[in-house]
Amino acid sequence: MPMVYNWQLGREMFYPYEEVRVGRQAAGIFNLNKCIGCQTCTMACKATWTSGKGQEYMFWNNVECKPWGSYPMGWDVKILDMLGVQKWGREGGKWVYKGETIFEASPENEISLGYIPNDIDYISPNRGEDEVSKPISDEDRFIRIPHQVWMFYLPRICNHCTYPACLAACPRRAIYKRGQDGVVLIDQVRCRGYRECFRSCPYKKVFYNHVTRISEKCIFCYPAIEKKVLPRCFRNCIGKIRTFGYINPPEEADPENPIDFLVHIKKIAAPILPQLGLEPNIYYIPPINVANDKFITMLFGPYGVEAVNNYKKAIEENDIEVIGALLLSNSSMHVYTRFRVSGDYVIGYDDDGREVVRVPIQEELLVRPSYDPLLDVYIRNDV
Ligand code: SF4
Ligand code: F3S
Repeated sequence: MPMVYNWQLGREMFYPYEEVRVGRQAAGIFNLNKCIGCQTCTMACKATWTSGKGQEYMFWNNVECKPWGSYPMGWDVKILDMLGVQKWGREGGKWVYKGETIFEASPENEISLGYIPNDIDYISPNRGEDEVSKPISDEDRFIRIPHQVWMFYLPRICNHCTYPACLAACPRRAIYKRGQDGVVLIDQVRCRGYRECFRSCPYKKVFYNHVTRISEKCIFCYPAIEKKVLPRCFRNCIGKIRTFGYINPPEEADPENPIDFLVHIKKIAAPILPQLGLEPNIYYIPPINVANDKFITMLFGPYGVEAVNNYKKAIEENDIEVIGALLLSNSSMHVYTRFRVSGDYVIGYDDDGREVVRVPIQEELLVRPSYDPLLDVYIRNDV
């Protein structure tokens, strides 16, 4: 197998295909400190893409409650159990993964470590939601994490990985990564329903359609992003937790690019399960209320705790550029690829340098007088 460089692992790794960095890689950042679990993103996606026959159980976007929730059930615990304990070291100022990826730990004659979930694992998209005090199954079979008094919501879509396991595993070569934006797509004509993609994607973001007998997945709303409009789940996010953009490799980080700025420069957004080796392109600002560094490390590797500390520091120090970048987060339906703080505003610009969004750093505070002389009424009862 060829060796490819995975910057999240800080080293080269085995992958069945040669390394090809696409011209520009679509990416997202989800701020978990702001997600309220309203599922608006889930329903926006469902109504747009998966309301047909055979798609009933599909949630290309889902929001699960951690530590107990998951969809399909136990997807994270199962693959982590198979892979074993993650080992990281620090070398030359960067994190280096010392364990095996799912490609390196694959059984003989398989491309990667993986499994096909049971039908029952999809029985409820919100199993375990809002449960903080008990295991999600009566038999305590899937999750054996002790009771914690914290919880948070984890929205998930396909990570449009730099090294997709779904693409690597397909014997029909029906999955491809677009050169112009790195979006990973399944060719619906070539696919014959072999379901190796379904088995290999560790994030379980490929769905098999039992009616058409071919697989489907999130398409990052490519018809929208081609028109510089945000994907549906980003556009409809009520909590404004989602930043869409394009990520560069760390050595080419551009401080005016909001994704590079938050991931590479300020290091407040972390990849999900980086140790699996796929270089996922959805990043998370981890929740700062989670009083358990081990859980954060389990989900985001060593980047997680580092991101929590950097996020707290930025807010404490009133880092106006970080605050500005966070405030811009899906504040407009337009894709902005550069940003800058100017006076009292943070401004987002598109590829052509046009201003597409402007947000005040501090909302103006308006205090209404308690008495309205026009109507001769008191509108507040504090007098
Ligand atoms: Fe493929 Fe899964 Fe990665 Fe999406 S998250 S690109 S489906 S391996
Ligand atoms: Fe390939 Fe997956 Fe279809 S393995 S043939 S894309 S079901």
